[in-house]
Amino acid sequence: MDKLVIHGGKPLSGEVRVSGAKNAALPILCASVLTPATLRVQNLPHLRDVTTMLTLLGQMGVEVSLDEKLGVSLTAAQIEERVAPYELVKTMRASILVLGPLLARFGEARVSLPGGCAIGQRPVDQHIKGLEALGAEIRIEQGYIHARASRLKGAHIVMYLVTVTGTENLMMAAALAEGTTVIENAALEPEVTDLAHCLNAMGARVTGAGSRVISIEGVDQLHGTDYRVMPDRIETGTFLAAAAATGGNIKLVGARADILESVIAKLREAGSVLEHGEDWITLSNEAKPVAVNVSTAPYPAFPTDMQAQFMALDAVADGTSVVTETIFENRFMHTQELKRLGADIDVQGNTAVVRGVERLQGARVMATDLRASASLVLAGLVAEGETRIDRIYHLDRGYECIEEKLSQLGARIKRAN
Ligand code: EPU
Repeated sequence: MDKLVIHGGKPLSGEVRVSGAKNAALPILCASVLTPATLRVQNLPHLRDVTTMLTLLGQMGVEVSLDEKLGVSLTAAQIEERVAPYELVKTMRASILVLGPLLARFGEARVSLPGGCAIGQRPVDQHIKGLEALGAEIRIEQGYIHARASRLKGAHIVMYLVTVTGTENLMMAAALAEGTTVIENAALEPEVTDLAHCLNAMGARVTGAGSRVISIEGVDQLHGTDYRVMPDRIETGTFLAAAAATGGNIKLVGARADILESVIAKLREAGSVLEHGEDWITLSNEAKPVAVNVSTAPYPAFPTDMQAQFMALDAVADGTSVVTETIFENRFMHTQELKRLGADIDVQGNTAVVRGVERLQGARVMATDLRASASLVLAGLVAEGETRIDRIYHLDRGYECIEEKLSQLGARIKRAN
């Protein structure tokens, strides 16, 4: 199994390009199921989760072809296999995103119920309730969600809680429903808006994406389009936090500051100097970072997907901070591993008290989920000596060429097996 070996202590410096956003790419790929015409997706990040999604769509009968510029063309002329099997759903929960499109276009879908996962229970009850409100008949049998409908009908849906993929699934289903659907308490995440833009480019009538209330006027059919995925705000934030932790000076190109305001505000509070233009962000942090409190919440508040990386930053900062996780009930697995590197962290329920230490020391640690892995990379970059991170397949799910990009910024990092 691959490992990352990092010799820490070197400030990051230089320029790298940010990749396309994983969490926008995954629903956009699923939108291809909504039309028999070809959807061409560009700026797709080269990630394991994207490969898994392409495998799932391919198994269902979507014709998938990669072009010379690493764009992908998807044609779902006919789909006989309206199934997302357990084997794929268990490796990637985002497979649930085929449920809405399959049901809306073909009137049936069978999707394995995702189980719990490393960061929390993560039920999908809101996806199911929303689809039922659109007229679907849903049974759970032998671990599968069986959904049927003749034609979905627009409805007024109030989401009980803010769910990103839940909002996306319902938005895709409603795009082909008869009549208008209103989703209240919708997720505001920029990835939801990116999907809405793609759907509208395919002929859908979605308004209000990026606000609490999204309206979708259903249409009879959608057409193909050529769509470019937005930049990854979590990859951007991760590199910025890494530069801040190492006392570095970096420029990220192809990055958007307007979708990262809460993270940028926290980095400034930590003492970093940030500047940005339309598609770039620079950060420099000459002094030791200052400890900052963070509390996660749905967009536009501080993202749960950046919590672990900020805990690594706080671990080497000046002062004590409180990190609170409000989205997932078990997203502190990285604390035990950070402590192996010398971090001083106490966890009580969903709150961690992090007392910044003078230095971390390299050790062998284990990645437990995607963002936890990123926090260990950050810690490894600041730690003295050698850090070996095992189980980095988690990282490959969500960070494109992370060791190449960090090497480009001067880090001493390599992959070994
Ligand atoms: N929830 C329910 N019922 C539902 C749906 C969600 O109780 O039907 C709960 C979840 O258990 C969680 C909260 O609602 O406590 C929010 O979950 P949400 O549904 O928003 O998460 P998600 O859509 O499954 C996406 C991202 C995650 C990111 C979260 C929160 C994708 C593919 N995944 O997950 O990304 O952490 O939103 O922003 O978009 C990652 O990239 O590392 C990652 C985990």
